[in-house]
Amino acid sequence: MKNTAIYPGSFDPITNGHIDIIERASRIFGGVVVAVLNNDEKKHLFPVAERLAFLRASLKHLPNTVIKTFDGLLVNFAEKCGTNLIIRGLRMVSDFDYEFQMTLTNRQLNPDLETVFLMTDAKYSFLSSSLVRQVASFRGKIGHLAPPAAAAALKKKFGGK
Ligand code: COA
Repeated sequence: MKNTAIYPGSFDPITNGHIDIIERASRIFGGVVVAVLNNDEKKHLFPVAERLAFLRASLKHLPNTVIKTFDGLLVNFAEKCGTNLIIRGLRMVSDFDYEFQMTLTNRQLNPDLETVFLMTDAKYSFLSSSLVRQVASFRGKIGHLAPPAAAAALKKKFGGK
């Protein structure tokens, strides 16, 4: 696909905020590779196979989007995909420090890599995967925070509405 960009993350699980960014990206770029990190240092609630299944079920309406896993450095994965475009979502000012550090690290590793930041819809600016996991773990409502596949799996794990 021409003008393909990579949207990397851990997606544990995918939230409606991630979907908002992927929808925006799919309107701008010829193709979007949603890339799930497989060797994350973070401890995950869902194994990578389940995280991929939630993504597949939630992104069916976006034909120019593919879902892949990667391990190792993002710059190497980008090279393998034949692109130098990375997408990151920005929610609040507090995201900036982390994103700045990550972008400059990647740029040092590959000066050709460009990171494009898309701002999330205001209604998702507070949202994160850990927040969704926490609300679900206390059996709170999550139907408006995560897509049906992820919400159903969280409800199965923790019980709740
Ligand atoms: N809506 C909702 N939540 C969002 C979001 C959005 N639009 N954008 C980010 N988040 C949340 C995620 O849910 C996650 O929440 P959590 O911490 O509560 O679980 C948090 O923001 C950050 O997650 P994510 O954007 O998935 O980033 P990450 O830190 O998990 O992963 C990688 C970042 C994968 C891009 C990065 O670690 C990487 O490239 N690793 C490969 C190794 C490498 O190349 N390192 C050198 C460069 S740093």
